Amino acid sequence: MKGVILAGGKGTRLYPLTASTNKHLVAIGDVPMIEYPLHTLRKMGINDLSVVTGGEHFSDVQRYLSMVHPSINFSYYCQTNASGIAKALEAAKPVLNGGKIAVVLGDNILEEDFTDAAREFEDSDLGAMLFLKPGREDDLYFTDANGIRRARFGIVEVMGGKVISIEEKPVHPKSNLVSVGLYFYDQTVFDKIKTLKPSSRGEYEITGVSDLYLQEGRLGYHLVNGFWGDAGTFKSRAICEEFVKQNLQAEVLEEMIERENDELLKKNLG
Ligand code: G1P
Repeated sequence: MKGVILAGGKGTRLYPLTASTNKHLVAIGDVPMIEYPLHTLRKMGINDLSVVTGGEHFSDVQRYLSMVHPSINFSYYCQTNASGIAKALEAAKPVLNGGKIAVVLGDNILEEDFTDAAREFEDSDLGAMLFLKPGREDDLYFTDANGIRRARFGIVEVMGGKVISIEEKPVHPKSNLVSVGLYFYDQTVFDKIKTLKPSSRGEYEITGVSDLYLQEGRLGYHLVNGFWGDAGTFKSRAICEEFVKQNLQAEVLEEMIERENDELLKKNLG
């Protein structure tokens, strides 16, 4: 599988940390946020990697990754207008041709090793796979620009082992199952993105893509084991930070040091 990290967006919810750099370079523990989704993909054995990031601080991401990960030959794409996650994925289409793809959102932190899930998906007739985790009661809602309280995520309803509905940021969520920021897709994803219409908040939603697979009866799901958090707000960043310091950060650093053989990294953090 090829992998893509979607690291766009303006990061306004982490302002002022994002005033002078890309959100995905903000530290979570001792390393920048983007290290965690990168680790998730590499743990699955994915080495063919691309990154899509937003316009303003695009070069910061490129500079960081090429300095700290010289062993990886990333393909970079720039999403010039923040029109949603589905469009960000479409930006990397030129390099994602052939085979199935793994998409991870740059602010999502996952503990599980998804190697088996990836193999299962590759061997199946499924067109897409979602990754689901019950949301934390104290971090499931937000108030939108119109003052309406909504679930902060894509919410999925499952019955009899099948996904039966998926909605982006519903006002009345039908379950507490969050579609976390990891997705496996086949190549039809790009045709599906083309047919999407912007949502009420004006974005091409990734949940809209998954809904099209659901309508075709080709959508599977995997229940996530271990920690999941999205580090995109101060509150959720604090939750993620507490977790990574105790657990994931050491594993991520170990892999970085081993793969890149970076003397400075060894000296400072090893
Ligand atoms: C995005 C997706 C949403 C998903 C979430 C996971 O939301 O649109 O479906 O549940 O990531 O972090 P965003 O964080 O862009 O609001």
